[in-house]
Parts: sequence; C-alpha cells; structure tokens
Amino acid sequence: MSFKHGLLLTGCICILFLLNSCVSNVEEELYPPDTCDTTQVTYSGTIAPIIELNCFACHEGEQSLSGIPLNGYDHLKTMVDAGRVIGALRHLEGFSPMPQNASSLPECELLKIEKWIDDGAPDN
Ligand code: HEC
Repeated sequence: MSFKHGLLLTGCICILFLLNSCVSNVEEELYPPDTCDTTQVTYSGTIAPIIELNCFACHEGEQSLSGIPLNGYDHLKTMVDAGRVIGALRHLEGFSPMPQNASSLPECELLKIEKWIDDGAPDN
C-alpha cells in the first residue's frame, strides 16, 4: 500500500471512529440509563439529607425565612399531611414552587420523595 493510501485509510478510520462516538453520546443523552433506585428509600437515610441540603436555608425552624419548619420528622410530616410538599416540589398550579427561586430538585430526588410519601411517609 502506498503512503498516500495509508493516510487515506487512517483518515477514514478516524472519521468512522469520531462518527461512532458522536452517535453513542447522543443516544446516552436521549435514553439515559435508568439509574434512579427508589427501593431503599427511608426518612433518615434518604429524605432528611435531601431536605437538609436543599431546604434548611429557609425552612430550619419556626424563625426561618419561610416560617415553615421542615427540620425533623414531625415538621416535615405535618407539611406532607397538609398535602403541600409534592405540589410545591413539582411546581404545580396553586403551590409556591420550591426550592424558592431555584430550579426543581433532580428528577431522581423527586421520585424518591414521592415514593416515600406514597409509602405513607414513615419515620424510618
Ligand atoms: C430560598 C428560600 C427557600 C428555599 C431554599 C425553600 N423554600 Fe419552601 N418556602 C419558602 C418561603 C418563603 C415559603 C412561604 C411563602 C410561600 O409559600 O411562597 C415557602 C413555602 C414552602 C411550602 C408551602 C408551599 C405551599 O404552596 O403551601 C412548602 C411545602 C415548601 N416551602 C417546601 C420546601 C421544600 C421541600 C424545600 C426544599 C426542597 C424548600 N421549600 C426550599 C422559601 C424557601
């Protein structure tokens, strides 16, 4: 094979390789692997850390900015029972969208919170 043909061949293989990696990246974005595991959701292990990280800035105690405490199981359960949590987190009509002035929680965290509430919001 001549040097010229060799270059040409290498070039083609490179382009094929690039095209291929391009296509598989797009596929990953369109069809993300289903990695949201909601089978082991508990209040203490899953829910409390999400609330602490994303909500305590405005919801830790009655003196907090919102005046609506969500720290500790009893406080959160009260708001769950009032039916205010999912609507706020899912930005449904008639609810104040939460977290306030920020984008929604990641879908997987929302699914976990919904699972926990569907299970009766147990103190586990
Ligand atoms: C930047 C401050 C801020 C953050 C962060 C925040 N909230 Fe709020 N939240 C408020 C304020 C202020 C109110 C009361 C006024 C209102 O309803 O808009 C409120 C109200 C609520 C309500 C009642 C809404 C309704 O329509 O009845 C719920 C439920 C709630 N927050 C849940 C959460 C949860 C869960 C998080 C964390 C994922 C969160 N909030 C994060 C400020 C915040």
